[in-house]
Amino acid sequence: MTDLAPLLGHPVRRPGPDDHLPVLAVLDTWWGGLGGEEGSRQRALLLPKLMFQHFTRSSFLVGDDDRVIAFLIGFLSPSRPAESYIHFVGVDPAERGRGLGAALYERFFAHSRENGRSVVRAITSPVNKGSHAFHTRMGFVTEPGPKEFEGLPVQPDYDGPGLDRLSFRKDL
Ligand SMILES: CC(C)(COP(=O)(O)OP(=O)(O)OC[C@H]1O[C@@H](n2cnc3c(N)ncnc32)[C@H](O)[C@@H]1OP(=O)(O)O)[C@@H](O)C(=O)NCCC(=O)NCCS
Repeated sequence: MTDLAPLLGHPVRRPGPDDHLPVLAVLDTWWGGLGGEEGSRQRALLLPKLMFQHFTRSSFLVGDDDRVIAFLIGFLSPSRPAESYIHFVGVDPAERGRGLGAALYERFFAHSRENGRSVVRAITSPVNKGSHAFHTRMGFVTEPGPKEFEGLPVQPDYDGPGLDRLSFRKDL
């Protein structure tokens, strides 16, 4: 199914259940083993198959059947009618720095606006400096928190005991 306009010359489509394992297979390489074995386990658990079954209409996969080049898993909040949420994004290291991540975000912002959303949220791990830089560049504000990690405001225990997060917000 290729119903979407290409991004930087690459085909784009909605992900589906068959994309689950191919996406899981790239995570460790793409995240450069960030956080060691525990980081690897947490990332895999953040992308259960349900994301590829129930969140597909607001998500994007760049690539074809043979190669995943980039993906964005996001959704329109069912509980907060003004908000949408970017859950996970990744770009093949070989394709980074060319605007693909930004283009995927712009696609998601457009989808959010079309559906009446005025706020986009996302979170990331405090150790993921690249993610913080990228989100800041994309116009997200890092929300104030009661704790700091290397100068960044942190939400302690956000995702459970010991699982601190940076919380990003962008007004569309
Ligand atoms: C973060 C990520 C998605 C960015 O994708 P990308 O295609 O390289 O990003 P773009 O080329 O569209 O960059 C957009 C802007 O963000 C900046 N940016 C992106 N990654 C950056 C980094 N690691 N450090 C500093 N700035 C960065 C770019 O310089 C660019 O700014 P510019 O327009 O001023 O040049 C990609 O690096 C990635 O997959 N990282 C590993 C996974 C991850 O951490 N995901 C986010 C947390 S879930």
